[in-house]
Amino acid sequence: MKRITTLEEIPARGMKFAYMEGPLEEEGILLKMRDGSVRAYKNLCRHLPMRLDDRAPSEFFDADKGQLTCNSHGACFRADDGLCTGGPCKGSHLRIVLVTVQNGVVFVDESVTGSFFDV
Ligand code: FES
Repeated sequence: MKRITTLEEIPARGMKFAYMEGPLEEEGILLKMRDGSVRAYKNLCRHLPMRLDDRAPSEFFDADKGQLTCNSHGACFRADDGLCTGGPCKGSHLRIVLVTVQNGVVFVDESVTGSFFDV
């Protein structure tokens, strides 16, 4: 398990973090939901191999709407489960990155990244 951050340190607009997917370093998006729970997704759209924030502005998470948005093409993803609700990959899901919270610290489990939750 690799430490990412603490719950208190997650900005309202979410944060990015690096993790290993096998031999590859990938980028994840860590979100704190309004109920205090966390979600993490691979920072990769499902219709093109692009990060959601490849274009400015780099803010892509609206906590009030509970929505992630691709800055290049406007695809919208439900932050709760990663479902694309509009845009070129509507109906697909962002890839989940398994994270856990222990005593207020967020960890990523790199032993399973890249092998699960590819919906
Ligand atoms: S890369 Fe897929 S909507 Fe932008």
